[in-house]
Amino acid sequence: MCRPLTDLDRHLAEAAARFGTPCYVYATDLVEERLAHLRAHLGRWFAVSFAVKSNPNPALLDWMRGRLDCLDISSGGELALAQEAGWDAERISFTGPAKRDAELRAATQAGLGELVLESLREARLADAIAGELGRVQPVLVRLAPARVPKGFGDQMAGRPSPFGVDVEEAAEILPQIAALPNLKIIGLHIYSGTQCLKPEAICENWRIFMQVFADTCAALDLRPEKLIFGAGLGIPYHPGDSALDLAAIAAEIGPELDAFAARFSATRLVLELGRYLVGPAGWFVTRVVSVKQSRGSRIAICDGGLNANLAASGNFGMVLRRNYVMHRVGGDEDGARPEERQDISGPLCTSIDKLGGGVALPRLEEGDLIAIHACGAYGPTASPLHFISHPMPAELLLTGGQMRDVTRIRGG
Ligand SMILES: Cc1ncc(COP(=O)(O)O)c(C=O)c1O
Repeated sequence: MCRPLTDLDRHLAEAAARFGTPCYVYATDLVEERLAHLRAHLGRWFAVSFAVKSNPNPALLDWMRGRLDCLDISSGGELALAQEAGWDAERISFTGPAKRDAELRAATQAGLGELVLESLREARLADAIAGELGRVQPVLVRLAPARVPKGFGDQMAGRPSPFGVDVEEAAEILPQIAALPNLKIIGLHIYSGTQCLKPEAICENWRIFMQVFADTCAALDLRPEKLIFGAGLGIPYHPGDSALDLAAIAAEIGPELDAFAARFSATRLVLELGRYLVGPAGWFVTRVVSVKQSRGSRIAICDGGLNANLAASGNFGMVLRRNYVMHRVGGDEDGARPEERQDISGPLCTSIDKLGGGVALPRLEEGDLIAIHACGAYGPTASPLHFISHPMPAELLLTGGQMRDVTRIRGG
């Protein structure tokens, strides 16, 4: 099904041999290429902010420090990871619907660039904390639009949602936030949908953002320093998915973005995203521990399953489980391993620990390595790593052919 990539396979096999399995390999050269591609098509209008939630590995964040404009964090823990990676708090924004006193305090004290307020409750708490610390905290208000176009894998607005201020309530809530003495509204933020592979849906969503931003700024008489567009850019995960066409997006929405940027000429427009940058630059490598022939099915049972990679098992927000693209490291050995349909499961004692159903792969045997693609985002960070107490997956950074162990969470 999937041709082995010889050079890649060499690195993946090296990763498994040197650092053990299961493991993740993140290729920074590929992240660099994706960033260049993103900037080539959309950089004329937007700076880029990386959503740490998608991959908080400190070595990766460190690598990004001189290459990306800003970071978005969603917890005090992510603030600590970003700081450990050398990021200046001033270049960081902080989203999240249930921020606690201690994390607001730590972020304000650190000199956070922008606090992204998700409610009036949070605004009042943040105001009190900033007052105690003798600081005026710059804030963006997160707005939840009334509509999200069809085509997003997950949506955070357009229906009852815990995220941000519903646009219907904005006229009542935003002036109350604006009146708080220790906060300064410097802009707005929207993140309403994610994992979209349809250019026209992305454009339609950004059109909604521009309307909401323009209306809200007019109502508040706000001249924003920053407007954050939650990008929603998706990546291909499954056989048959096509990569998002950024040129098509730029061609369709470019004139409207030009007009918007001219109207907000003193404003920095920012695209906030995670998976688009790092997802396709990561592989998850797991080793076949055992093979079972069961009632007509061949099942390869591997050392890493949903415990190490929840997303690839289809249990991270996927309605219908679909196989990720994957290949056998080493391919079909010049025909010695003819392709057949096989099931791939993990080491856990639950039937949902399945990484593939009926996947066409060269016949798998004990000891083989399987590489699952598009695993650079929502990997270890989105997985129940402690369930059944198997070893933690290693994380490896591949830069210019050199591999480095950057495992964040060790033990097992
Ligand atoms: C507020 C916010 N920002 C950024 C992201 C990153 O999304 P993605 O990795 O799909 O780009 C998300 C994802 O849920 C989010 O909720």
